[in-house]
Amino acid sequence: MSAFSAARMTVRGVGLVMLVLGLVIWTGNADGLVPIHMLLGIVLVLALWAVAALAVQAGTRPALPGIAIAWGVLTVAFGLAQAQILPDASEHLVVEVAHLFVGLVAIGLAEAVGAITTQSGAAAGR
Ligand code: HEM
Repeated sequence: MSAFSAARMTVRGVGLVMLVLGLVIWTGNADGLVPIHMLLGIVLVLALWAVAALAVQAGTRPALPGIAIAWGVLTVAFGLAQAQILPDASEHLVVEVAHLFVGLVAIGLAEAVGAITTQSGAAAGR
């Protein structure tokens, strides 16, 4: 398997695990899983960056990969700050939904960068 495909599959696989872990954490019964969730979140962002970098290397125009790289920074920064933002207030729900949204967009950006790269033929043989 090419590095490009491997990075895409990593985002998909880890992304699915992140969603399940996040939803379990959300029930409030699995605080012990938060460090694993955070570690896997960082793995996911590294894979997203790999997808973006390999797409540019393959000749894809850099706008969307650039957005994906910036979004990865936002995803990790928000995730790391997450537990400290209004932890006890009822508004924390907004933070939780926003965090879920940021994560879903990160997964979606890897899909989008992957799709435009394979469609344009830029990643042929990758
Ligand atoms: C694809 C990426 C991600 C998805 C889909 C995702 C999803 C979720 C969901 C649904 C929750 C439960 C609701 C909530 O507390 O917000 C959660 C909790 C959490 N996530 Fe993520 N997450 C992602 C990435 C990350 C990353 C990169 C980090 C940190 C490096 C992180 C750190 C946390 C923390 C600390 C909590 C618990 C917060 C609390 O107890 O209030 N997440 N995540």
